[in-house]
Amino acid sequence: MTTPSGAAGEAGGVGGGSGGIDSTLVENRRFEPPDAGALGVGRWHVGSAEEYRRLHEESLADPEGFWGKEAGRLAWFRGWEKVLEWEAPDARWFVGGTLNACYNCVDRHVQAGHGEDVAIIWEGEPVGPVTSHASPGSKYAAEPEVRRVTYRELQEQTSRCANALRSMGVKKGDVVTIYMPMVPELAVAVLACARLGAAHSVIFGGFAPHAIKERVADAGSRVIVTADGGYRRGEVVPLQKNVEEAASALSGEGHRVEHVLVLKRTGHELPSRRFNTGSVGAGGAVYHWWHEAVGGASDACPCVEVGSEDMLFLLYTSGSTGKPKGIVHTTGGYLVYAGMTARLTFNLMPDAGQVFWCTADVGWITGHSYVVYGVMMNRVPTVMYEGAPNFPGNDRFWSVIARHRVTHFYTAPTAIRTFMKWGDDLPAKHDLSSLRILGTVGEPINPEAWVWYRRHIGWDRCPVVDTYWQTETGGHVCTPLPGAVATKPGSCTVPMPGIDAAVVNERGEEMPAGRGGLFVIRRPWPGMLRGVHGNRERFVSNYWGRVKDPATGEPYYFSADGARRDADGYFWVQGRIDDVIKVSGHLLGTMEVESALVSHPGVAEAAVVGMPHEIKGSAICAFVTLKPAWLRSEGREPGESLKKELASHVAREVGALARPDQVRFAEALPKTRSGKIMRRLLRDVAAGVEKITQDTTTLEDFSVVSRLREDED
Ligand code: WT7
Repeated sequence: MTTPSGAAGEAGGVGGGSGGIDSTLVENRRFEPPDAGALGVGRWHVGSAEEYRRLHEESLADPEGFWGKEAGRLAWFRGWEKVLEWEAPDARWFVGGTLNACYNCVDRHVQAGHGEDVAIIWEGEPVGPVTSHASPGSKYAAEPEVRRVTYRELQEQTSRCANALRSMGVKKGDVVTIYMPMVPELAVAVLACARLGAAHSVIFGGFAPHAIKERVADAGSRVIVTADGGYRRGEVVPLQKNVEEAASALSGEGHRVEHVLVLKRTGHELPSRRFNTGSVGAGGAVYHWWHEAVGGASDACPCVEVGSEDMLFLLYTSGSTGKPKGIVHTTGGYLVYAGMTARLTFNLMPDAGQVFWCTADVGWITGHSYVVYGVMMNRVPTVMYEGAPNFPGNDRFWSVIARHRVTHFYTAPTAIRTFMKWGDDLPAKHDLSSLRILGTVGEPINPEAWVWYRRHIGWDRCPVVDTYWQTETGGHVCTPLPGAVATKPGSCTVPMPGIDAAVVNERGEEMPAGRGGLFVIRRPWPGMLRGVHGNRERFVSNYWGRVKDPATGEPYYFSADGARRDADGYFWVQGRIDDVIKVSGHLLGTMEVESALVSHPGVAEAAVVGMPHEIKGSAICAFVTLKPAWLRSEGREPGESLKKELASHVAREVGALARPDQVRFAEALPKTRSGKIMRRLLRDVAAGVEKITQDTTTLEDFSVVSRLREDED
């Protein structure tokens, strides 16, 4: 399988020199945007290359005019006085304006007479021989459980939930941690926080107790919303149990979680789950059942007026140190940007029969912007599916599309590669005729997967939008607009209107066409992060400290991605140049995994690198130096069983998505004279796996290589 150069997260380190990243991918296929009538989409918001160019030019010529017009689509309690105040790297958008995010996603639709419109179409995972809490007694549900939630119901539920949270002491400015399965109540909890003017910090349900603990402590959260469990591939994920473990560990460190609100989703009986609302449980927190606390709360709760620059949410992402970064997004700018990008990238419009399905979990930024906020602001029904793509069969996603007549399908390259492997016959068995637009996100997509997606899912008629962006950008920054921009498989094409993107060298000079460099954004945009929670230094140095405008000295936003631009001005993202790895589209800091490894009593030192992987894009390879004394005292061998134990240890500490694919033992790690681990060398070793595993020794001694490299250094 071909992958774009650097696609497998293997670009690490390449941008470190003078800014030359060479690219080997040559892809000449090109697909013109389809005619709106022929595709059956009514009309395009932006309908020609010319129109896109004009819009982009105008947006850069008069940014305040452009963004002011976009902000005018939102409902404000009080209008802004100034579109932007920019004192690099600090931006304040729509200064003086006040609004409420839940009002913009829910209440205003009800007030405009759309209370009976469907906001959420939810499908649970259990099908077949599984007992579902929601349908007790029926062990064999032939059809999955489906719920349609209208805007009126959402207004009522967010109000009740907000009142329940308020009774636990949550108020404007607090951070509520949410750790839930993909159920409508997750969206309710998110919007209920917004309703109160409190910030949410959603933690992906795949994270382990240690990861929860770190994030709750960093956010200073006192209230956690969770569920007893969630369904994943027919099994129950023990969410509440993980929260209990995290809360207990936190109380040992002097941080008390005060309240835990628990949705009964799976209803599986474990002793700790038999609590009564109001009783004190693990970590000294008071536990409440959702159906009692939320169910019993009043359904009247006005939307709290917040400032445009008040924090809407924190979302933790991985960086190059061991500690996750809490990315701060604020209310006005984020909403304007999520709403606009959803509308333009997916040509969203209400009352046009659209059904939007983004398969991302709300625990990621993709779920924030394109399951909840961006889609609801455009009053298009959003599909939430609870479970795995392979339950009960490998064609589950195609049956979801057919059952709900999904028009927009948005997923990740790693999923597309998996579908390819599962076979063309699976999508072919289902009616995918409702589809109009396909999207991809999370990592560079290899052209082979892109073309497969277009053919087998989009039947060669749906445009594919490859959306490049980050947790930090809030929404898409480069993507084709489906009715306006011709696509090339593997390229995220052109910048979003309002985005001044470029590929530059370390001096900030634009690279000539075809030459690789650093992907930067040269001026502020409303969806940009406002900070890293509690860490100003990290915010400034990670994003604004590397590249400057060569003429004015003004800092550029640096994405940490390498990219090139072709002669047509199309962007080709090559991958990260920092110490983070994209595994199945999820960012993992190498340091995070290394810290987990060294927390094992047998590990002296560890180095983690990415290695190319056919499905995941990249996989984790961990080089580990063991403590000889531990091996002796425990009577252990550095063999397969210890490798498995270490891999499971990482999964337990960080979460299953961080489980290393390979653990390799080394007597020493190769280092430079200054003591830096030579990751590039390790990456080469990891990529050449086959040759080395044929070797009979399990211990790899790098000391020779490292001595050689030291001399070069
Ligand atoms: C990193 C950001 C964006 C939401 C989900 C991931 C990579 C993302 C693409 C794409 C090439 C992509 C970049 C970026 N990335 N989308 N379409 N083409 N690379 O958010 O976890 O913050 O990850 O994902 O490397 O920096 P995230």
